[in-house]
Amino acid sequence: MTKTILRALAGETLPVPPVWMMRQAGRYLPEYRATRAKAGDFLSLCYTPELAAEVTLQPIRRYGFDAAILFADILLLPQALGADLWFVTGEGPRLSTITTQAGLVALRGKDEIHETLAPVYETIRILTRELPRETTLIGFAGAPWTVATYMIAGRGTPDQAPAHALKTSDRATFVGLIDLLTEATIDYLSAQVEAGAEVIKLFDSWAGSLKGQDFDDFALAPAKRIIAELKRRHPGLPVIAFPREAGDRYVGFARATGADCVALDNSVSAEWAAEHVQKDGCVQGNLDPRLLVAGGEELVAETRRIAKAFSGGPHIFNLGHGITPDADPENVHIMLNALRGA
Ligand code: CP3
Repeated sequence: MTKTILRALAGETLPVPPVWMMRQAGRYLPEYRATRAKAGDFLSLCYTPELAAEVTLQPIRRYGFDAAILFADILLLPQALGADLWFVTGEGPRLSTITTQAGLVALRGKDEIHETLAPVYETIRILTRELPRETTLIGFAGAPWTVATYMIAGRGTPDQAPAHALKTSDRATFVGLIDLLTEATIDYLSAQVEAGAEVIKLFDSWAGSLKGQDFDDFALAPAKRIIAELKRRHPGLPVIAFPREAGDRYVGFARATGADCVALDNSVSAEWAAEHVQKDGCVQGNLDPRLLVAGGEELVAETRRIAKAFSGGPHIFNLGHGITPDADPENVHIMLNALRGA
């Protein structure tokens, strides 16, 4: 029998939607914190295949999710292209910045990324052996715009102002960086599929700050190019696109990019998205991750409301963004029981 996630991605409406959670391997789980301590730091965890595979499997063992997502990070690709990358505890990522043509030219080419990323492919190969046969393995990368915002600013920014500024002040460097990331992302994701990833997800976490023509040029067009080339190399490969906070631009995004599924953040209502986005095919989402901190009746009611709103078409149940470190692991059981009717 085909895996439930693959059935939903192929357009099937299932009586109970398959489910996984963004950041399901993470600090809210004591077993994750133990393995991370063993690795020493976050990047060592990402680059040690046995440990990265172990944390990928932890939420599958605990909750029996229908999909496992490769444990890695969207910022490993900039590192493979030659950017310096480190994580400051309690603050987040830091990178050396790319703001000039000279900086762009000094990066490695797309053919040189695989040496750094080889441990990621090895993690996937371990997972293909160790995952339960009903669990789908999802590989991923950041979308070019989102990755570029970190490479240009050297860190996460609330409004992506440095990337917007470069887009205006030095268009050639900005477009050159988007193009390099687009081509490198294709090769990175293609190698993940060759290693055993069954589905690909493209995270465009900051798509919502692109407006009008910029959204077309730097969110939609790169996604379309990446998806078309991946499907040319791997016919039938399902792809999930996550243009987070795209709002009205969620409408038609799957058709315009060739994605099989659009992941929704929790700023749009499930009822609105069922009418305007799910009409084109599978959707994924979109429980507010804060409910896994709060728990209680609202968690149960919201889980049921979202499942009901999307029950008329193909749906993968998920959160609107990643689960946070302060979430209660018990609340995930409450969510799953509400969904699966236990
Ligand atoms: O979802 C999963 O379980 C798979 C692994 C995964 C991680 N990051 C692990 C991680 C995935 C798919 C990502 C994607 C990612 N990384 C995104 C896109 C999705 C989103 O959240 O919008 C972004 C923007 C990043 C960049 C990044 N990585 C930031 C900004 C941070 C710091 C914030 C934080 O939560 O600490 C990270 C670190 C990170 N990536 C952690 C994990 C589990 C926490 C690291 C730790 O253990 O301290």
